[in-house]
Amino acid sequence: DSMLYNDQLVKRDRIIDIEDRGYQFGDGVYEVIGVYDGQPFLLDDHMHRLQRSAREIRLTLPFEVNSLKTNLQKLIEANGLNEGVIYLQVSRGVAPRLHDFPGGKTQAVTIAYTLEEERKTKLEDNGGTAMLTEDIRWLRCDIKTLNLLPNVLAKQEAVENGAVEAILHRGDTVTEASASNVFIVKNGELYTHPANNYILNGITRQTIIQLCGELGLNVHEEAFTVETLLKADEVFISATKMDIAPIVEVDGRTIGKGKPGSVTRQLVKSFRALYD
Ligand code: PDD
Repeated sequence: DSMLYNDQLVKRDRIIDIEDRGYQFGDGVYEVIGVYDGQPFLLDDHMHRLQRSAREIRLTLPFEVNSLKTNLQKLIEANGLNEGVIYLQVSRGVAPRLHDFPGGKTQAVTIAYTLEEERKTKLEDNGGTAMLTEDIRWLRCDIKTLNLLPNVLAKQEAVENGAVEAILHRGDTVTEASASNVFIVKNGELYTHPANNYILNGITRQTIIQLCGELGLNVHEEAFTVETLLKADEVFISATKMDIAPIVEVDGRTIGKGKPGSVTRQLVKSFRALYD
């Protein structure tokens, strides 16, 4: 396989410098972009979010977005990727390990590679279980940074408990999940945490909200409690490539009728139609 290294396609076994700040400090930003039928999905939205994340951590992107887009297309072609994801990250570069920003000549380092991935149709059709865990992350969850240790720990805890995802809550308030956003349906209307500093504003989340508008479904971008989540008619999570995954059980409590609900199924279908 090839990978993108700055603005060159190189062999994937390229070794990253041990003093890359992404490696040592998690000092960088990233995106995971879905690929369907050899085409990056919602690429411009991912590019805008990347620019915003970089700005928020005061990192100067070392490329023009248009040339990155061209390079990502070349990467897809070089690897013959039909369906999967592109992982893209930009770190603050390679410099002697000091916490403050490196000066002068240090350039940000861009890498991207592709991963083939099948559709998770089983999860979409049958739903999965989730586990609740306290959200112990920092207060800038809106930035898609490389610092994912709290997310990693939450997801591992969920997996060890046989769940597909960890739903996070700050005190009583449900925020999002370890690597996805959370929606609930109550009396035919949807609720999801507002896009502020407590969550990552998912591209999938934004697309779902837009779809709901077209389908005449009401969406409230409002925080809700764990109690409300457990009493919801339907719960689902959303993320790139996973799209929409119904959650039918949370912490051993059955959600609704214990199978994917009608609003969730309608959205799964409409979402799939965007790229199929
Ligand atoms: N995760 N919230 C968090 C904490 C996430 O890490 C993600 C995505 C999302 C959903 O965002 P989007 O719809 O733009 O993929 C929400 C990616 C897929 C990952 O880290 O692998």
